[in-house]
Amino acid sequence: MFEDLLRRWEGEEAVIHYEAAGDAWMFVCIDSTALGPGGGGTRLRVYPTAADGLADAMRLSGAMTMKMAAAGLPRGGAKAVLAVPELPSGDARRRLLLRYGDLVESLGGTYRTAGDMNMSPADLDVVAERCRWVYGTTARGGNSARGTAIGTLHAIRATAEHALGTADLAGRTVLVQGAGSVGADLVRLLLAHDANVLVADVDESRAAATGATVVPVADVIGTECDIYAPCAVGGVLSADTIPRLGCRAIAGCANNQLAEPADAERLHAAGILYAPDYVANAGGVLQLVGLEDLDWSEDELEHHLAGIGDTLRQLFRDADEHGITPEAAAARLAAERVAAARATA
Ligand code: NAI
Repeated sequence: MFEDLLRRWEGEEAVIHYEAAGDAWMFVCIDSTALGPGGGGTRLRVYPTAADGLADAMRLSGAMTMKMAAAGLPRGGAKAVLAVPELPSGDARRRLLLRYGDLVESLGGTYRTAGDMNMSPADLDVVAERCRWVYGTTARGGNSARGTAIGTLHAIRATAEHALGTADLAGRTVLVQGAGSVGADLVRLLLAHDANVLVADVDESRAAATGATVVPVADVIGTECDIYAPCAVGGVLSADTIPRLGCRAIAGCANNQLAEPADAERLHAAGILYAPDYVANAGGVLQLVGLEDLDWSEDELEHHLAGIGDTLRQLFRDADEHGITPEAAAARLAAERVAAARATA
């Protein structure tokens, strides 16, 4: 099974380590270093088989190449998966994370990690005891929700400008799905821009705490609004939901919003402008890589976060000009940047 995956994969390097203590597999997949060292989070998860974990790391590393390239960062794409029979705790967790830190350190900085599913800033602190290439530890303020929220706001403004004629959000109705780390912060920013903010969360108390108007989770898709901002789970845009959407445009931070690639075309056909998720939510990597790896100042970070809006404006124009979806325009931009870097290498 590993053999098939490795033969078919087009990435640069897959590092596989089996840790007998804990029966854990570690997969570090470096998809591309054309633009710089490979960056991407570490996912700790239980998978049906170890090969499913490797396949996930391969797929996610390719997505990171696109995200880094579209964000204009001098970083390639990579991802790591720690596939475990059950989520470890206590000493077993610490041992696993230290051993993982040794593995990442041994790669000499070609792979640089942050958190992902089940990997908290405190977990990253443990990895960082053994490894220099760790971002998002508690020492540096932990998670990247702040940058993601600001970047998503810029994405929403650029999307409003293209779909509605102005980036001014005053009086515009924006529906935020998910009031978690990013969503709650985004609601605060939108309210400061005088938007009419609707918010839905499976945890209604979280939604209510934002001070925006709460909408039941089941009503999100059909609710009339100018902009729908998915900020909770992936797969929310599908053949089933797209015909029922009550919005004019979509820009949010959730990863993998399209259930399948064809949904980009479905949105286009429905006349709904869609800001590709990995462009809209790049504020997190801009914050982590920029502040912690590239030594940007806060002002430089702000400038790059605003660049998310500029990138989207360009993508929307390219899409119109070539009669393609913004998703296709984003893929084209990222592929061109990677190809140009390869050509000069
Ligand atoms: P979080 O876990 O802090 O918040 C998610 C919120 O969504 C929770 O309040 C949860 O109760 C709610 N939720 C879950 N299912 C829901 C549903 N079906 N309908 C409505 N609400 C639901 O996560 P976080 O960090 O705010 O991230 C949100 C999304 O953005 C995720 O898809 C994440 O992968 C993505 N993302 C986050 C980044 C970050 O810097 N935190 C960076 C890039 C993407």
